[in-house]
Amino acid sequence: PYCFADGQFVPTQDATLHASDLGLIRGYGIFDFFRTVNYQPLFLEDYLDRFIRSAEKTFIPLPYSRSELKEIVSELIQKNDLKAGGIRMVLSGGMSENHFSPGKGKLFLFAEELIFPAKEKYEQGIKLLTLEHVRPIASIKTTNYALAVWHSHIWKEQGAEDVLYHQNGYVSESSRSNFFIVKNNEIITPSEHILLGITRKNILKLADIPVHIRPLTLKETLEADEAFITSTTKILLPVTQIDEQPIGTGKPGPISLDLLKRFKNLES
Ligand code: PDD
Repeated sequence: PYCFADGQFVPTQDATLHASDLGLIRGYGIFDFFRTVNYQPLFLEDYLDRFIRSAEKTFIPLPYSRSELKEIVSELIQKNDLKAGGIRMVLSGGMSENHFSPGKGKLFLFAEELIFPAKEKYEQGIKLLTLEHVRPIASIKTTNYALAVWHSHIWKEQGAEDVLYHQNGYVSESSRSNFFIVKNNEIITPSEHILLGITRKNILKLADIPVHIRPLTLKETLEADEAFITSTTKILLPVTQIDEQPIGTGKPGPISLDLLKRFKNLES
């Protein structure tokens, strides 16, 4: 495979970053991740909006314009014959004179194979483990997932697929996904301390029942009829258990499954 690495296309194994880059020494960088469907990037404009916004908000100069980024994306798809896969765009904090202030951002784009969660997770639903935490600067897609990576051995030990962050009685999101509940035929998704997911946005567009974007309590969550998470790499996974508590009937709910079906129809 080929990647775009700091100005040129090179075999992916040859992409390098200086070991003193702020991305490594301070964990400072941003990224985004989207899919291709039939050689076309899905919701590219939404992802570029978010990526450019993340760069601005983190004060990392993005070395390419929006239209140049689009050209790089289409060349990457061609070079890798990427009919259905993932594209990861990473902007690292760059070389810093004082090992602290952002330097000139280094841009990388990788073409990746995409593996969806196993079929049984869609059929049976997944378990989330609650964790009291709020992601710092949650609306920016930074490369900092240190807590999530570190904590993941605990989910695995407890048979959970992921975590559900909550603080002061309110839930926010999962480590790499947005969170939703269904109650009395209405959808509720948290408004605060979240990444504005592109899948979230497009799933909500497909809903034909009332949608409420507002603070959501953990108590309401545990009493929900249905729950689900969304992300680029999972689309929509039903949540059927939170800690030791089953959600709704303990099986994936009809509204969750219908939204997943509608989303998949968009792609075909
Ligand atoms: N995760 N919340 C967080 C913290 C995320 O990292 C992500 C994306 C989402 C869902 O956003 P979207 O629908 O735009 O993918 C929500 C990516 C997929 C990842 O880190 O692998």
